[in-house]
Amino acid sequence: MLSSQEIQSLFPVFRNNPGLCYLDTPASSLTPESVITKLREYYEHYPVNVSRGLYTLSEKATQEVEYVREKTAQFLGGSSKDEIIFTRNTTESLNLLARTLLPTLKENDEIVITGMEHHANFVPWQQLAKQYNLKLKIVPFEKDGHIEEETLRTFLSPQTKIFSFVHISNVLGTLNDAKRFIDIARSIQPSLITIIDGAQSAGNFPLGVRDLDCDFFTCSGHKMFGPKGIGILWGKKKHLDTLSPFLYGGEMVSSVSEKESIFKESPARFEAGTPSIGDIIGFGSALDFIESFGKQSIFDHEKTLTSLLWERLSETFGDAITLFGPNPKTHIHTGILSFALEGVHPHDISQILAQENICVRAGTHCAMPLHKNLDTPFHATVRVGFSLYNSPDDIDRLIGGLQKARSLFTFSP
Ligand code: ALA
Repeated sequence: MLSSQEIQSLFPVFRNNPGLCYLDTPASSLTPESVITKLREYYEHYPVNVSRGLYTLSEKATQEVEYVREKTAQFLGGSSKDEIIFTRNTTESLNLLARTLLPTLKENDEIVITGMEHHANFVPWQQLAKQYNLKLKIVPFEKDGHIEEETLRTFLSPQTKIFSFVHISNVLGTLNDAKRFIDIARSIQPSLITIIDGAQSAGNFPLGVRDLDCDFFTCSGHKMFGPKGIGILWGKKKHLDTLSPFLYGGEMVSSVSEKESIFKESPARFEAGTPSIGDIIGFGSALDFIESFGKQSIFDHEKTLTSLLWERLSETFGDAITLFGPNPKTHIHTGILSFALEGVHPHDISQILAQENICVRAGTHCAMPLHKNLDTPFHATVRVGFSLYNSPDDIDRLIGGLQKARSLFTFSP
């Protein structure tokens, strides 16, 4: 593995912001030079539309997009490029599923999610349930941030039609055992549809959608070193070909008359209008970037930093800090750690840290229902997320910033 300084040199943002301590990767990862170069290549050499033109530049752009589709299928452990739909982000992928699965549901059918979902995997199902008289069941998590298998079993039933859950929690850093969850769910209702929100796992955890045997998997390019504005929906072809389109328009139809439209098969059926071509092409380079390090080694690096941070925060702040999620001494805790410091609001902490050029996220991290169940007076947390470019130096800087915040906000007579 390269040193953190060598890794930082691959990201222009560090050159342009000396002293940057970036701990907000779960919100969005930074962009390597190689991805920016690929974006420039598209815009400078063949910045035209795809799948429509019969001229050389359009053929080149189309080839590049289809190459990335193939590469994405391999990266996620899928079997066919036709199972990859390009969307804007995980949120859009999940909304697409909520809308297109709706006709397969009837009143009182059950949708099961967990209490640790991001709003993207919460609000679409909540709204569907309200509008169409479906039942939304929410599996609670334990105090240490894991979900008990026995609890999960009691929330699933033969009436469950959809089970959609997060792979890695964007707040607790919990890694859910997706394969096990799916096996349990299918043992209770063999034909239910399983959906994984892989926003925090796709780029840094060695997973394979065929091995997991989920029906759908969703993720975002911008959390995987890719450009903003590109998301992925992977789905089993047998489902994709039976679902109705999400958006209607150009290139998703094979024929249109005044009375009738015939839709193409997937992926075209779900990609109406001009896609985010440059972003898709840049995303291909982001996948190369990840593969040059290996997902397992990125995961291990992040996990090691989390263990160190957990230890340092406990040592430094003792009972004045509450750390959320699994204890890394006994359980897997991924590269995301949220905490609350006694007597100081998370927003105040993040402002003090910002003055030191340290970027963290503070608040509810698009997971308000989750925060309602945390033992913290503000129902909000400070969140740190690690990536390849972080090192123990960032932990030293963070601890220093937190000590400053605590001394400023804690009154001592
Ligand atoms: N989903 C992103 C986060 O957790 C935005 O911060």
